[in-house]
Amino acid sequence: MEFIDLPQMISACGTLRLPGSKSISNRVLLLAALAEGETEVRDLLASDDTARMLEALRSLGIAVTGLGEGAWRIRGCGGNIPVRQAELFLGNAGTAFRPLTAALALAGGDYVLKGVARMHERPIGDLVDGLRQLGADVGYLEKEGYPPLRLKPAQIRAGNVVRVRGDVSSQFLTGLLMALPLAGARTTVEVVGELISKPYIEITLATMARFGVRVERQGWQSFTVPEGARYVSPGSLYVEGDASSASYFLALGAIGGGPVRVEGVGRDSIQGDVRFAEALAEMGAVIRMGPNWIEARAPAEGLTGITLDCNHIPDAAMTLATTALFARGVTRLENIASWRVKETDRIAAMAKELGKLGVTVNAGPDFLEVQPPSPERPLRPQAIDTYDDHRMAMSFSLAAFGTPLRIHDPGCTAKTFPDYFERFSEVTRPAPVIAIDGPTASGKGTVSARVAAALGFHYLDSGALYRLTALAARKAGVAWSDERALAEVAAGLEAEFRDGRVFLAGEEVGEAIRSEEMADGASQVAALPAVRAALLFRQRAFHRAPGLVGDGRDMGSVVFPKATLKVFLTASAEVRAERRYQQLRQAGQPADLATILAELQARDA
Ligand code: DC
Repeated sequence: MEFIDLPQMISACGTLRLPGSKSISNRVLLLAALAEGETEVRDLLASDDTARMLEALRSLGIAVTGLGEGAWRIRGCGGNIPVRQAELFLGNAGTAFRPLTAALALAGGDYVLKGVARMHERPIGDLVDGLRQLGADVGYLEKEGYPPLRLKPAQIRAGNVVRVRGDVSSQFLTGLLMALPLAGARTTVEVVGELISKPYIEITLATMARFGVRVERQGWQSFTVPEGARYVSPGSLYVEGDASSASYFLALGAIGGGPVRVEGVGRDSIQGDVRFAEALAEMGAVIRMGPNWIEARAPAEGLTGITLDCNHIPDAAMTLATTALFARGVTRLENIASWRVKETDRIAAMAKELGKLGVTVNAGPDFLEVQPPSPERPLRPQAIDTYDDHRMAMSFSLAAFGTPLRIHDPGCTAKTFPDYFERFSEVTRPAPVIAIDGPTASGKGTVSARVAAALGFHYLDSGALYRLTALAARKAGVAWSDERALAEVAAGLEAEFRDGRVFLAGEEVGEAIRSEEMADGASQVAALPAVRAALLFRQRAFHRAPGLVGDGRDMGSVVFPKATLKVFLTASAEVRAERRYQQLRQAGQPADLATILAELQARDA
């Protein structure tokens, strides 16, 4: 399993140029493909979802040419899709699947549209019902109401009223509206039920307008695509930065001091998720905004929890769920039922992973309530699962301000933000770590403990973990050569370090692990890669604020390669043997200098 380990962060500050908006990118690509004339698109998002759309357009015979650095040239087909028979694979890209379904159903042709398993669990029946009212021939290949779909040419009857549900996903309405100019006649779409995620419809209407189609509308209930509407290329076009992606960095500024500034979205944005900044401001964050940038800072008095109807910012609201960990009082996110049909069931996933960190969560059909940790119950270092959901990975990165943590499958951010974790590390500052390496008995343990005490830092005696593994294995009857079994012992080690004392499963073992026998056992088990891997996150979990002194031979190379300071402390074998000899004598244990020297040289080797 791929993972990224994040140390506890202590501050955030900096400026970030945002990647292009996913929602705008995929809408622009489709409309450019359907339009008359060539469109040059700049700052297009490079991500999994846009890659799926680009592939699909190519399969449909649309000429798309990469010009480098996020620029693309798309030769529009003027509504006549060149390839009339194709099978399209659209991954888990809802912004590709729904609008392409609508456009291809009205364009006429034999098409099959498929996605990953999760895409086949995300409902599409309401859109299909809308298309069928226009005469489109759309069939389900597996489960009624869900992809994959089969489309066939049909006689389209435009010029009427189409009714479509608006309370499951706004993408159904988006898909229909974007496709309707292909139908030719004046057609009205009436929304049944309360329309959710309205700001995404604003993006749809604004993008259609850029391509020359003005939708007439009455509130959020009725939308009319006029007679003779057709898409015409605007020539060239810039994609705004992604406002949902901005939310993580604004939250970082609000949690980690700031200021953190994002460039590419601002006051003039057409994306509803810029209103995430208002939610942060309600929590107390200090927000500044320009036409094309937003900046967030932490308030002097700290953030406070809020209750918010999140219907207008369904995606960015996920960021609030983890921002809530750093606010005073409970945060309650309401009207988020659509989370349940996104990349994963986001309410369930969020509740489960927050629970792992030790957070008290109350989840319902359409709400989530998060209680922040307290000094008595701080966040626990844990490995977080991300459910192939980019927003789970990005949201949980914020929790690093409360605890070191491991995030599984960080590559899933590629859906919208391929280099998220690099950008994250550019604006955040981890707690400092001093790594002290060196051979056995060089005094690194003594020095490390004293430096940690002097600085008020945490202290990691990594050798003790190997010694504990050897001791626990001995107690469990596992041989010091049995790599598989030892790795399990290491992974399940019930070790505790408290006030300079060491406990194994509740029993004080400080002296037991200092014996020469356990030193020998530790040396054997430490040579096994599976044991070292099993102890890696356990060691990184010590990397907490205000700082850490880590003692052990791979501290600066493997465990904390980005350590603030790396020290290699050494002395001759004779001097080290003498130290060990004195230590053992003081502890009242039998000791022979010549034997100790020979053993120590052997261990060095
Ligand atoms: O520092 P120490 O003597 O307590 O270490 C016990 C054993 O564990 C020793 O053989 C070195 C090994 N060790 C290691 O391989 N990597 C570490 N980070 C720390 C100790």
